[in-house]
Amino acid sequence: MQENQYISLSPTSIVQEKKFSKEAFGKDFAWGIAMAAFQNEGAWDKDGKGESIWDKFSHKNKIKDKQNAKVACDFYHRFEEDILLAKSLNFNTFRFSIAWTRILPHGTGKVNHAGLEFYHRIIDCCLENGLEPYVTLYHWDLPQTLEDKGGWTNRDIIEWFSDYCEVVTREFASKVKYWLVLNEPAGFTGLGYMTGYHAPGRLGMRNFLPAVHHVAMCQAEGGRIIRKNVPEAVIGTTFSCSFIEPFTDSDNDKRAAKRIDALLNRLFLEPTLGLGYPVHELPFLQNMMKKYVHAGDMEKLAFDFDFIGVQNYFKLVVKSAFWIPYLKALEVKPKTRKIDTVTDLGWEVSPDGMYNILKQFGEYKGIKQIMVTENGAAFKDELIDGKINDSERVAFYQSYLQHILKAKQEGVNINGYLAWTLTDNFEWTEGYIPRFGLVHIDFKTQQRTVKESGRWFEEFLK
Ligand code: NOJ
Repeated sequence: MQENQYISLSPTSIVQEKKFSKEAFGKDFAWGIAMAAFQNEGAWDKDGKGESIWDKFSHKNKIKDKQNAKVACDFYHRFEEDILLAKSLNFNTFRFSIAWTRILPHGTGKVNHAGLEFYHRIIDCCLENGLEPYVTLYHWDLPQTLEDKGGWTNRDIIEWFSDYCEVVTREFASKVKYWLVLNEPAGFTGLGYMTGYHAPGRLGMRNFLPAVHHVAMCQAEGGRIIRKNVPEAVIGTTFSCSFIEPFTDSDNDKRAAKRIDALLNRLFLEPTLGLGYPVHELPFLQNMMKKYVHAGDMEKLAFDFDFIGVQNYFKLVVKSAFWIPYLKALEVKPKTRKIDTVTDLGWEVSPDGMYNILKQFGEYKGIKQIMVTENGAAFKDELIDGKINDSERVAFYQSYLQHILKAKQEGVNINGYLAWTLTDNFEWTEGYIPRFGLVHIDFKTQQRTVKESGRWFEEFLK
C-alpha cells in the first residue's frame, strides 16, 4: 500500500473498506475532540477572571490582523451547544482545559468560586451527555500576575503551579477521572520564552533555559498532586512531536536531525521517564544543568504517567547549518522541496510522519500507553449554500487514522484519538484565519455549521 494513497480519495470510500472501521481500533478506544480555554471561551474578564499572558499579549496587537480572543467562540456561554454538537457527531470523549485565571485570578491566593462553578457546569454537561471529560490543567494561559514575577523563569512557579493543581484536583476529584498536566511544553517554552512569537513574548536562552527546567519540574509535580488527590485518576501529559527526517543521507544532516529530534521530541519526555535531559545531543543544556538544576531535582523530574499524549500535525525535514547558533540545523520547508500537500499553515500533510513518531514513542519502555491527544488540519473552508465541503480535511483524517491504526496493529499501545478540534477557534498568534474545526463558526454571528469532516466522523463513529 502506498503512503498518502488516501489524500485524494472521496470521503466515503475508506469507510467502506472493511479494515478501516472504528471497530478495528478496539471497543475501548476513546474517540474525542480537544479544545483549550483561551482559544474557545472568550469572556476574558467575566465573573472575576484575572488577566492571563495571552490576554495581555493579544490586547497589545501581537496577533495577525489585530485580532484578539475577548469573545473567541463564546464557549463560556455556549458550552452546552458545543458539547451537544460533539455528542451529535458520536464522540465519547471531550478534552478541554481549565483557565488558571478563572480559578486563581492572580495565580495564587484567593479562589474565585465562579470559576470553579463554570467548570463544574462543563463537566456535568459532558457526563450527562455520555462524554468522558479529559481535563488539561495548563494550556498556555499563565496568569499575568505570575508572569510579572518572572513566570516560568522563576523557580517559585513550582509552588504556584502546585497550589493551583491542589485546588483544581481536589475540587473535581469525584467527577473527573482523566487528567492531563501540561499541553505541549516544548511549544510554549520555545515559542513563548525563546523566539517570542507567542505570549509572553520573551526571547533568548536566558529565558528559555530556566523555563524549560521549571516546566519539566511542574510536569512531574502536577502528576504527583493528581495521584494524591484523585485516587482513581488516569494521568497523562501531552507533547508536541514531529518525526524528523534528515534532508540527505550525509552524516552532517543525520546529526542535525538528531539534534532537532532531541529538542522537539525528547526534551520534556525523557526526564519524566527518568532518562534525564538529552544533554549529549544538545550541549547548551549544560548551562541549564549548572544554573537552574538544584540537588535532588533530577529524581523529582520523573513521574510514572499512565499515558502519554502525542500531538502530531506534520513531519519536519532538516539539514545541517553550521551558522545557526546552538542547533546548527535548519528546516527545509515543504515548498522548497516541491511538496504541495500542505495545509493552510504550510504544514506538510504526512500521515507517515504520524506513523513514524508513534513507532518512535512506542520504543520507550517507560511509556505504558499512548493517546493521540491532538491531530488535525487547517484548510481554507468556504461556506457555500450553507455547506462546507472540506474534502481535504476529510482525506487528512482518513489518512492519519489509517496510519495510526497501522502503528497500533504493529503493537504500539494506542488507546485513543482526539481530533483538533471541534469548532474553528482562536489559533494563537495566527488569529482566526486558520480554521481547524470539524464545525465552522461564523465569528460575526457565532453560528455553527457542521462541515463535511464533522459529518464524516459522525458516520465513521456511528
Ligand atoms: C497545538 C496546540 O495545543 C493547540 O492549542 C493548537 O491550536 C494546535 N496545536 C494547532 O496549532
